[in-house]
Amino acid sequence: MTHSAAELRRSDSGTGPRLVVAVDGPSGSGKSSAARGVATALGLRYLDTGATYRALTWWLLEHEVDVSDPAAVAGQAQLRAVEIGTDPGEQWVRIDGIDVTVEIRNRRVSNVVSLVASVPEVRRQLIALQREIIAAAVESGGGIVAEGRDIGTVVAPDADVKIFLTASEQVRAERRAAELAARQADGQVDLAADEAPSAAVTRLEQNRRDRRDAAQTQLAADAVEIDATNLGLDEVIARITALAAAKLAEA
Ligand code: DC
Repeated sequence: MTHSAAELRRSDSGTGPRLVVAVDGPSGSGKSSAARGVATALGLRYLDTGATYRALTWWLLEHEVDVSDPAAVAGQAQLRAVEIGTDPGEQWVRIDGIDVTVEIRNRRVSNVVSLVASVPEVRRQLIALQREIIAAAVESGGGIVAEGRDIGTVVAPDADVKIFLTASEQVRAERRAAELAARQADGQVDLAADEAPSAAVTRLEQNRRDRRDAAQTQLAADAVEIDATNLGLDEVIARITALAAAKLAEA
């Protein structure tokens, strides 16, 4: 069952949807594509919280701050200004005014971002920013699909719909490798610094990130778990959209 954005708006007494959808899950589960697809289908804003951690990580690497030193990382986190777009059709992220939308996807960022994201001061700063963005989206008469690791538990524990998206380790590694290859084909990857890794290397890197991200990746008690191992993206989007529609119909 799928619902058009128009149907959803009608079900909300003509004021437009006011809905917070949280999509959490491990890396490579497909949550970014799913969350963007749901936001587009329902006419909602979209927030990629991982991009905020990545932008800060990019800045730290660029300025040769030791990302394994929590005190050094925490000191910088307070001083940096992260801004992020919420249009599901056009994403961008800036730090101190510098657009780093493309650079944050590079492996040199991916491989250390979980170290940065585990520093409490970093989380405090960026969770405050994420909450402001979610509140502004709801305030402006719409709603938002926010994706990350701790949206349903920490960032927006009152979210109307909570999804925890998983997929087998193998499928997640394959998706990551395909994503990197596609970015390389698009010319979005700095080949010298960021050559496409083999499937085995991708899997090792993923396992390391999973371990480091484990504390942050939380399943809310009231989340709906979707195992996307054998589901296409359209099916995942349709399921989440149907759950959101049911929530709006209840309101
Ligand atoms: O989803 P992603 O791969 O872009 O996330 C990048 C990193 O940020 C990842 O290591 C986990 C961390 N993260 C987090 O700790 N909390 C979030 N809400 C989102 C991401």
